[in-house]
Amino acid sequence: MERTFRQQLFLLLLCVSVLRAELRHVESNEISKDELFSLFNPELRRETPDVFRYRRPLRCLDMVAVEGQFTFTAESLQLSCAAFFMAEPSEVIGVEFDRVDIDCSVGDFVTVFDGWVMKGEKFPSSQDHPLPLHERYVDYCDSGSERKSVRSSQNVAMVFFRIHTPGSSFTLTVRKHVNPVPCNVLSQSAEGSYTMVSPQQHRNCSFSIVYPVAIDISEFSLGHRNNFPKRSLVGCAETGDYVQLLGGNGIDTSKLLPITDLCISFTGPTHMKIGCENTVVRMVSSGNFVSRVSFSYRLLNNQELQTIKLNNVEDFCFDN
Ligand SMILES: *[C@@H]1O[C@H](CO)[C@@H](O)[C@H](O)[C@H]1NC(C)=O
Repeated sequence: MERTFRQQLFLLLLCVSVLRAELRHVESNEISKDELFSLFNPELRRETPDVFRYRRPLRCLDMVAVEGQFTFTAESLQLSCAAFFMAEPSEVIGVEFDRVDIDCSVGDFVTVFDGWVMKGEKFPSSQDHPLPLHERYVDYCDSGSERKSVRSSQNVAMVFFRIHTPGSSFTLTVRKHVNPVPCNVLSQSAEGSYTMVSPQQHRNCSFSIVYPVAIDISEFSLGHRNNFPKRSLVGCAETGDYVQLLGGNGIDTSKLLPITDLCISFTGPTHMKIGCENTVVRMVSSGNFVSRVSFSYRLLNNQELQTIKLNNVEDFCFDN
């Protein structure tokens, strides 16, 4: 497994590219969806260390799902590197700059991003993130010693880095912290179940599953009403509190297309197969009520995907 994973990472490494050299914040990369899938190898979690403090070298393209101390040492010019961090849905990620030996004056950088960026798309989308976009980037060179640690707003974060001089290095400590009110979540796997709760907050939250999945909505309550899931006939937007099911092939939820809205006016099926590379359950909340939605999901097999492909000629997820 480890070897396959390394091979996939190597592939992914080949695909990462930096756009504008003058930009501290690498706004885009060429990581493809299939390679993203490969990063979600559940075997990764076997990496979980028993020792008190786990340490390992960081690779130019890396995926980290455990706490520990990670050191990157440049063996040659490294223009475009990215490490993706992820934690459980109810956790956020803390990244500390322990020791940074890079030359900011020649354009080296180490930048933490609050979320993930792939192919220029961000998760969570700017629309659903509590911070303005520029505050989601913390650059070591810009903030220097003032800002020694960064905490993400959700269960994913990443670090972009560029180093010109061989031998330069940096060390980060990654910690997971409990998040009592998770909002945006990127699922760690293609199978699972989750309950999204909006505790009377005027904010929208997304649960993103970056796989084609069969999804079952099992429980649904908006405000004080306790209803079984209903599909909207006229649209739910006027109700203020509703759940959207979105699909598409990127990670920015604001660019996904609506599959269905769930609110209180129509009874419909609660089991759906969605052949998209990204399936999102998004809860739109007015902040007036406590809303919750529970669902479970599993990966679609090839046969199911073929059936969807054949039956839905206009399925937008197969258009590109
Ligand atoms: C939540 O989403 C809805 C629909 O996309 C939007 O109209 C509303 O402004 C959003 N609310 C917040 C707090 O972002």
